[in-house]
Amino acid sequence: MAGRIVITGAGGQVGRFLAGEATRRGFEVSALTHRQCDIADPAAAERFIAEGDLVVNCAAIANVDTAEADPDSAYAVNTTGPENVAHACARVGAQLIHLSTDYVFSGEQRHPYEVGDTAAPLGVYGRTKLAGELAVLAAMPDAHIVRTSWVYTGADGTDVVAVLRRLAATDRTVEAVDDQTGSPTYVKDLVGALFEIGAGDIREPVLHVANDGACTRYDQARAVFEELGADPGRVRPVSAAQSARKAPRPAYSALSTAMSVRAGLTPMRPWREALAEALAQPITGGQLPSTP
Ligand SMILES: NC(=O)c1ccc[n+]([C@@H]2O[C@H](COP(=O)([O-])OP(=O)(O)OC[C@H]3O[C@@H](n4cnc5c(N)ncnc54)[C@H](OP(=O)(O)O)[C@@H]3O)[C@@H](O)[C@H]2O)c1
Repeated sequence: MAGRIVITGAGGQVGRFLAGEATRRGFEVSALTHRQCDIADPAAAERFIAEGDLVVNCAAIANVDTAEADPDSAYAVNTTGPENVAHACARVGAQLIHLSTDYVFSGEQRHPYEVGDTAAPLGVYGRTKLAGELAVLAAMPDAHIVRTSWVYTGADGTDVVAVLRRLAATDRTVEAVDDQTGSPTYVKDLVGALFEIGAGDIREPVLHVANDGACTRYDQARAVFEELGADPGRVRPVSAAQSARKAPRPAYSALSTAMSVRAGLTPMRPWREALAEALAQPITGGQLPSTP
């Protein structure tokens, strides 16, 4: 499949890993950071995109509390930005994969959300991401929207698993929310799925891509400690209300990948198996190019 891949938001967690992996797989890679290509600028993306490119939009205001505090910026980056990228792709005949989120769901359900379930986001992040999905599909009906959830590298960044890894090496007690459930997703597995979708045989426009199964943040934190041989008793449960974050988060946002698998995606492995690999064989600097 290899050809040219254009990655917007390439300085972030997913974009960096995707760029490294695309290079490893023999793609010509155009990895565009925020500074190089601001997707909120309507004229920016089209300068970098050519016919036949595979474009993956990883750019977002993905921090839920940051989005809640600045709805205008969140709308510009999470809604107008993807629409701009989609128009640019449609104009020249490029393929587009746009990343979205489990936070488009309200969290009232107690079984994994399927693609067709009603989206009813609770906060600014989810609302602007859902509007972004709709804007992308309106501009480019053959684009792919990939909803994923609770993404981590477990390496040396600021994602939940990376932070827990560092805390596990101390003797500190850690608080983790035990009333929010989701599907932790290892960036390596997400990126593997993006290449499958990019290969072009999967036709469904909206896909769920997440490791299989679900857990609470508390379960996830205990699992990280267990995998690293640290005492999971150092993880203490707290409620979401006690943790007092700015933005509302769904109490339940596990994603079902059943429809994605029926559409042709290789089944995703269980979240705990992926976590074990992420911690036992951390992603190396070679796979995570530094941000220019
Ligand atoms: N992380 C998760 O748990 C998670 C879960 C579900 C879905 N997702 C989705 O997955 C995608 C990738 O997320 P991520 O975890 O890689 O987030 P991330 O680490 O925050 O990366 C997002 C990147 O977008 C860049 N960006 C922000 N505004 C931009 C703009 N106007 N133009 C171009 N780039 C801009 C940021 O650059 P600066 O930092 O320089 O602004 C950052 O490098 C997003 O669509 C997110 O909504 C993530």
